[in-house]
Amino acid sequence: MPGIAVIGAQWGDEGKGKVVDALASTADVVVRFSGGANAGHTVVVGEQVYKLHHLPVSTLHERPMSVLGGGMVIDPWTLRDELEGLRARRDPGEVHISSDAHVVLPHHKKNDEGGGFVGTTGRGIGPAYSDKARRLGVRFGDLLDDERLRQALGRLIEGKPNSTARVGWATVDDALATLDDVRSYVAPMVRDTGVLVRDALARSQRVLFEGGQGTMLDLAYGTYPFVTSSHPTVGGILVGAGVSHRALHGVYGVVKAFSSRVGHGPFATELAGSEAERLRGTGSNQWDEFGTTTGRPRRVGWLDLPQLRYACEINGFDGLVVTKLDVLSGLDEVRVCVRHDGETPVYETMPGWGDLHGLGSREALPREVLDYLALIEEFTGVAVRMFSTSPDRDDTYGSVDWGA
Ligand code: IMP
Repeated sequence: MPGIAVIGAQWGDEGKGKVVDALASTADVVVRFSGGANAGHTVVVGEQVYKLHHLPVSTLHERPMSVLGGGMVIDPWTLRDELEGLRARRDPGEVHISSDAHVVLPHHKKNDEGGGFVGTTGRGIGPAYSDKARRLGVRFGDLLDDERLRQALGRLIEGKPNSTARVGWATVDDALATLDDVRSYVAPMVRDTGVLVRDALARSQRVLFEGGQGTMLDLAYGTYPFVTSSHPTVGGILVGAGVSHRALHGVYGVVKAFSSRVGHGPFATELAGSEAERLRGTGSNQWDEFGTTTGRPRRVGWLDLPQLRYACEINGFDGLVVTKLDVLSGLDEVRVCVRHDGETPVYETMPGWGDLHGLGSREALPREVLDYLALIEEFTGVAVRMFSTSPDRDDTYGSVDWGA
């Protein structure tokens, strides 16, 4: 079955959007399987910059169908704004929403305000997944049927009366009145997307599973409690898209040539001061390290190879995609963490490299970059299949194996 997955190997913001964009033109279906509007994929198409949150990158391509899978938590109001904003610029093509995906409701956003000790994106993600686990959630399928929706809202309001009252939902009718217009907007897009994706695979169509966030933000295997509330790792695909392990022909990990993280939590190779400013950039171009969703400056640091090896083990990557190599251009030296001595990272220092624009091929990479990639491959035991050297669509090199 020709399914491939693209997964963040660090803390998110690895440049997955650009990688999925490069692969989407040869896919038939692109599926988001976890998270929601906490994600932010920036894609540069010519002069145009697109920032996507819920929508898969396939909405910027003509052919592939876009699926928002059952593992997602979707804010229908934000989704409507995102889709209508995109529609004003281009045709997003066919978009389907899983009837199993959960609805991010006003009280979820209210309860996520301020970001708490984790420094969340404030999009209501944690509270929505928490209601899902407590069996108090509302699913997109519920929005299609009056009686089902009344029952789901009734359970919610009875289960969390204080929380819902704070957003003006004392009764089911209050809630229905808020949901009314957005319900009719999303309804035509809601269906059993698991069937749709499994059928596509059975017909040997190419399905691309588009990861959000990154491995170290995984609820189970990331830096708990400083994590998101879903599973951006490979396991999240099966439950989040409604497919079996047979759907996966290849799983590719996207890793930035350095590291970054937004929000709080451990980050061993983090830099401060002018070194950090240099890696972060100025916020004036799309490659700069400022959050797509929140605009927050990202914490930045050197590449952490033991962390990357962990991501390779957890996800079983068939290949790596190294992005943002150009951000390190112009440095005299580049450091890479090869070991952790307790909390202290131990670095290997390598010579830096110059301008990487317009290379045309892997062979054209400077010796220093080839050595950098070779160190990554040697340390992780995983081949670097693709790399990218600028935010432009054209500066992505290499390919993945679709198997069909
Ligand atoms: P939440 O997903 O909004 O609950 O946030 C939990 C943690 O994950 C916070 O540290 C966020 O900054 C981080 N996070 C969530 N989504 C992303 C993402 O798409 N990129 C990078 N960090 C993210």
